[in-house]
Amino acid sequence: TPAAPLPPLSLLIAAPRGFCAGVDRAIRIVELAILKYGAPVYVRHEIVHNRYVVDGLKAKGAIFVEELDDVPDGVPVVFSAHGVPKAVPHKAEERGLEYVDATCPLVSKVHRQAERLVEQGRHILFIGHRGHPEVIGTLGQVPDGVMTLIETAADAEAIAPTDPANLAFLTQTTLSVDDTAGMIEVLKRRFPTIEAPRGEDICYATSNRQAAVKAIAMACDAMLVIGAPNSSNSLRLVEVAERQGVKARLIERAADVDFDWLSGVTTLGITAGASAPEVLVRELVDRLATRFAITERETETVRENMVFKLPRNLDAAA
Ligand code: F3S
Repeated sequence: TPAAPLPPLSLLIAAPRGFCAGVDRAIRIVELAILKYGAPVYVRHEIVHNRYVVDGLKAKGAIFVEELDDVPDGVPVVFSAHGVPKAVPHKAEERGLEYVDATCPLVSKVHRQAERLVEQGRHILFIGHRGHPEVIGTLGQVPDGVMTLIETAADAEAIAPTDPANLAFLTQTTLSVDDTAGMIEVLKRRFPTIEAPRGEDICYATSNRQAAVKAIAMACDAMLVIGAPNSSNSLRLVEVAERQGVKARLIERAADVDFDWLSGVTTLGITAGASAPEVLVRELVDRLATRFAITERETETVRENMVFKLPRNLDAAA
């Protein structure tokens, strides 16, 4: 007897999705550092928050550690895309370690703004998620006490700065565009003279991926976001879908798909966070195709063409 036909499932694939220019650059930096210095090259913190990427670089000769103390003397070390507190490169220099900084240039831009504001004597309210490596890195650009972390609109309502006329705010690059707008509104209402960042701190990749999810969410019964549970921008994509009234889940790999959860779904949205490679999207589509008669459609809300320069000390290896 012939097999029963597979149930239909239409896939709406968001674009832009997946790798941003900062992640692309950070991975390339590790690869080039291995070429230039030879394996092993140490990397402080997951270069980007994706296990598939990290495992791939391990196979090429990268060794991942959490702290500089775990890096032996005499070997090069790469700092992750999220950025590091100033104390980290200082300590590397003290120890005579060669290092390559893979901090995303858009994170470095926030670091420089923080320094400049502190030089001007401003107190900075920093909107971000406590404990995220980017937040630890940005707080670590300036002396203790000159920057206060704001995580929620309630924090923005409650904060009682000693010099309310002399404030500025900055933000993490991978936040929810909508939540952040709400917090900024509160800050501007409470502190009318607060200085805003030049341009946006939430990066182009974060806001483009959120807008792309919004554009397809209404047409979907469910949405799968490929990304890691510690990836801020990926978690925000799940929230964006949920707020459009669509059930959404974060998965790391195709193997995580729960087919029970998909029962009754006829249109499934798919996207990937900024640290998730496209091969994981293909892997997911392939797994879905074993259970469903799929059709694929991509909706592109904006074309990205951002590319960041490599650090000068690696250019020659490129
Ligand atoms: Fe940079 Fe934004 Fe990607 S800050 S690392 S371009 S998510």
